Amino acid sequence: MGATTADVLAYRQIVDEVVLLDIKEGVSEGKSLDMLQASTLTGSLTRIIPSTNDYSLTAGSDVVVITSGVPRKPGMTREELIGVNAGIVKNVVEQVVKHSPNTILVIVSNPMDTMTYLAHQVAGLPQNRIIGMGGALDSARFTIYLAKAIGCSPADLQAVVIGGHGDTTMIPLTRLATYKGIPVSEFLSAETLKQVAADTMVGGATLTKLLGTSAWYAPGAASAAVVESIVKDQKRVIASCVPLNGEYGQKDICLGVPVVIGRNGWEKIIDFKLNAEEQELFNKSAEAVRNMNNVLATLSL
Ligand SMILES: NC(=O)c1ccc[n+]([C@@H]2O[C@H](COP(=O)([O-])OP(=O)(O)OC[C@H]3O[C@@H](n4cnc5c(N)ncnc54)[C@H](O)[C@@H]3O)[C@@H](O)[C@H]2O)c1
Repeated sequence: MGATTADVLAYRQIVDEVVLLDIKEGVSEGKSLDMLQASTLTGSLTRIIPSTNDYSLTAGSDVVVITSGVPRKPGMTREELIGVNAGIVKNVVEQVVKHSPNTILVIVSNPMDTMTYLAHQVAGLPQNRIIGMGGALDSARFTIYLAKAIGCSPADLQAVVIGGHGDTTMIPLTRLATYKGIPVSEFLSAETLKQVAADTMVGGATLTKLLGTSAWYAPGAASAAVVESIVKDQKRVIASCVPLNGEYGQKDICLGVPVVIGRNGWEKIIDFKLNAEEQELFNKSAEAVRNMNNVLATLSL
């Protein structure tokens, strides 16, 4: 999905230059060559540079999207990836920051909330310069399930998923979802809304079952949307995983909340003023993510 992120960034010319880095010989070269050839047909002028583990080629990057690691297979949870991915993400973050000390990191590798927490511990960057990507994707999935249930265009919906980026930790905010400003509950029964939320929560697992591995088009597009808001200083509100210092009643944790994203990374947390039921779900989500974060201490990283 790192390559798909790069492809969206290049195809839409969101950035002038993109470096694809992979540890495995041939992967970044092959992907870059394929994309370069495509650019003669799409008209994209974005420069695409391959790198097999040579971080010097990434020096001075404005934004680095970290997707390295292993994806889940059918039947696996994102949380089961922690043992392998924590070591990879730690190493990659350290190398990236050495060559791009002023970069903004977008963490994608799973379990994403814990990998974002880890990145904050090891990167030595200001906290606004590390963003976990999960809510952008989960909100896209929520939007599509809602559009299908209502029978409307997804473009006319506003729908946000907060909390953890896990099958049981994400919180699709059905109360705040709107169709052209009107609550979706005016169009859908409570039962249908519950089903939409349930489908959203297992949205990734549904795709993993169909594809045999993790999805990439929507995750790539979601990561590119975060990058676009940064490099174009769009100040878009995107649910993203950021450190909480009392916001949403939590601290010492990175969790998905709506944030304004611009040139300086995540710039501001928006308070959605959760009701008691939503706050309880958020607290439970935090508890599960905190348990996962505690696993980090048991790993020899
Ligand atoms: N946050 C999200 O919304 C989201 C969405 C989709 C996938 N993911 C996660 O993103 C990660 C990547 O998924 P994928 O489907 O692209 O997997 P993939 O296996 O297709 O790609 C991962 C790549 O990482 C490379 N890699 C492994 N170790 C590395 C290292 N030390 N340095 C550099 N590269 C290294 C591998 O060679 C491989 O090419 C997984 O952890 C997956 O669970 C997260």
